[in-house]
Amino acid sequence: MSINILREFENIIESGSQDEFLLRQIDPDRLPSHIAIIMDGNGRWAARRNQPRVAGHRAGAEAVRATVESAARLGISYLTLYAFSTENWKRPRLEVDALMGLLREFLRKEIRSLKRNNIRFQTIGRERGLESAVSREIDRARRETGENTGMVLTVALNYSGRSEIVEACRELAIEYLALGRDPSEMTEDDIERHLYTRDLPDPDLLVRTSGEMRVSNFLLWQIAYSEIYVTDVLWPDFRRVTLFEAILGYQKRERRYGDVKPTAKGSLIAANMK
Ligand code: FPP
Repeated sequence: MSINILREFENIIESGSQDEFLLRQIDPDRLPSHIAIIMDGNGRWAARRNQPRVAGHRAGAEAVRATVESAARLGISYLTLYAFSTENWKRPRLEVDALMGLLREFLRKEIRSLKRNNIRFQTIGRERGLESAVSREIDRARRETGENTGMVLTVALNYSGRSEIVEACRELAIEYLALGRDPSEMTEDDIERHLYTRDLPDPDLLVRTSGEMRVSNFLLWQIAYSEIYVTDVLWPDFRRVTLFEAILGYQKRERRYGDVKPTAKGSLIAANMK
């Protein structure tokens, strides 16, 4: 493996540790460019400790901080985190307020580290409906990191994959009408131009924590060909090792995008030539 990744974690991971063992196995030339994460299990983490759910979210925010740092060090280009879905408004007011408070606190505290690490911050989701204090903090983080050229950190907030597709279709219909275009000519690229993620490549790897086998309305269009990795680890316990394990799991997969294995192709050609 390239010495560079190891150097990035020099003085950070202990020699002989599990982190180092896994890091050494990661192929730096086959890193996923875009990792998306469904952060799940904060409530269960808290319940196991007889603590209120909010304590789980607070520990989850710490796992966010550590994961952003590790992903940036590894050289991941895009990291997208599912922090709050449109369905999450149904949770008790106290919990919703706590989640919004944690997001503001994260942005306030981490802005310096985002700048120092050349990370560009942005959000996806419906902006209307967010409290003005949250919007202000998001705007500030977006503005202050807007020129950064390193990893793009995208936080999905007040997000719904289905609504995103519906909004894209609405905008596209209006555009087609205005330009007098024939709707039967509509393409996948047209839809993609109107998604929140128009400036992001599709995720290569979708990680979900806490063992649940669901995609929960996250990036429904964009994960069409993503590799899905589910770990039983609860989000607040997500550590560098868990990220390394997910990447190693991804590197063991063979991505075919609906095609067949090159070896199978060879045998088909051989069969046809007989
Ligand atoms: C799912 O766990 C987690 C969430 C709905 C919120 C994720 C939020 C954070 C990690 C903290 C703040 C975020 C940032 C970006 C700083 P759950 O509550 O559904 O867990 P459960 O299924 O065990 O109840």
